[in-house]
Amino acid sequence: MNPRAPGAPHGSDPLPEALTAGIAMLRLSGRLRRIGSQIQYYESVTSTNDLASPMVGNDGAVVVADAQTAGRGRRGRRWFSPRGRGLYVSVVTAPQNARADPDRATALLTLAAGVALAEAIEAVTGLAADIKWPNDLLVSGRKVAGILAEASTVAGSVMTTGVVLGYGINVIRLPERPPEATGATSLEDELRRPIDRMELLLASLEHLDRRYDDLLGARFDAILESWRARAPFHRGTRVCWSASSGVRRGVTQGVDDWGALLVAVDSGVERIVSGEVRWDRDLEQ
Ligand code: BTN
Repeated sequence: MNPRAPGAPHGSDPLPEALTAGIAMLRLSGRLRRIGSQIQYYESVTSTNDLASPMVGNDGAVVVADAQTAGRGRRGRRWFSPRGRGLYVSVVTAPQNARADPDRATALLTLAAGVALAEAIEAVTGLAADIKWPNDLLVSGRKVAGILAEASTVAGSVMTTGVVLGYGINVIRLPERPPEATGATSLEDELRRPIDRMELLLASLEHLDRRYDDLLGARFDAILESWRARAPFHRGTRVCWSASSGVRRGVTQGVDDWGALLVAVDSGVERIVSGEVRWDRDLEQ
């Protein structure tokens, strides 16, 4: 076992040596500025988002775990998080502190994270990662990573104090997946060679740091341009989704400057800001 990292909170496990060394190298070379200001590592946790949540306010703090016993996905789903098989990471962010237009920075946070993770996957594996609105990452049409952003608000107000950005990447090939993860794949399944999880973790933090800097610096067009280039279904694809009025259908028309999905329907164009959209490919199954 490595010695406990200086300043590591009681209860966390010692940082793996490769993580300490990698972070130090990225910091020295100026490739990690905000993210990684503090890092906690755990062999097993319920959910890294749970542990990161009390750290809101500590911009750039990171929680990494080797396994999650209650990993969660969007819309109340479970995120399958077996030990040593994926990356389970949460980063504390503060998009509300953006220099210009903090509301737009907050709205675009998960799109920026999707771009960063796609860039990291490509840099480490050479695999092309597509983004499915709002921020699922697909390789060869199957889900390989997801992002869960959870905002903290001041009690009794709608003011955001920070956002925990949790992401999971399926890295290592599994003998079998639970039913809720049957449509998923892993990077090793796609690449057919072993992948160094630590290299991918460091690359993800580095790319997130760069895209987070774009966000805080109000370089929104750079984020949206990269997102659009990686999201083949955001235009001209038949989709359906659940609305309070029932199931709606239409054809995607792109995303607007705030990251909302625009869908042409019989009565005009609808703007979808959250929720689950099913795509043409899913509709044919
Ligand atoms: C999704 O696509 O549904 C989002 C999945 C997010 C999973 C990650 S793993 C690390 C962090 N902790 C969690 O409990 N969830 C996120």
